[in-house]
Amino acid sequence: MAVQNGRRRTRLVLIASLAALLVVASCGGSKTRDQFPVSSTDDGKVDFALVKKLYDVKCALCHGYDGAQQFAGAKDLTQSVLPKNEVVLRISEGKGTMPPHKDVLSEEQIDALADFVLTLRSTQP
Ligand code: HEC
Repeated sequence: MAVQNGRRRTRLVLIASLAALLVVASCGGSKTRDQFPVSSTDDGKVDFALVKKLYDVKCALCHGYDGAQQFAGAKDLTQSVLPKNEVVLRISEGKGTMPPHKDVLSEEQIDALADFVLTLRSTQP
């Protein structure tokens, strides 16, 4: 019984933090574009070290740092089979509890995030 109450409290605290973080995230939205540049490396490839910082701030809350967390109904990104164009669409438009990001992130950031999300998959295509 005590254990169960503890779990419930942990869950409540998690939900409260999620709500608070979402408010903070939506307020700071316009700054995210400038705060997290995703400039490509010299050979034209996406610099994943930069994109990871953006992912950690905007996505890890629900999807976890490794992509496997399924908070708030989030899909396990390590098991996802969506093609890249659909991933871009999902990040831009959102779905269910996932918020749309097209107004807070640049197209370049969304494209880089999609490339990054594909690297989280356990089975690489
Ligand atoms: C508030 C929680 C939340 C945040 C923040 C969030 N997502 Fe999601 N995400 C979800 C949920 C919930 C789904 C499942 C939507 C559905 O299909 O019903 C999802 C689905 C996805 C999918 C589709 C996976 C599949 O195979 O269907 C991708 C890709 C994705 N998210 C990437 C991201 C990226 C990248 C970010 C950061 C920019 C992000 N998400 C931020 C909750 C979130």
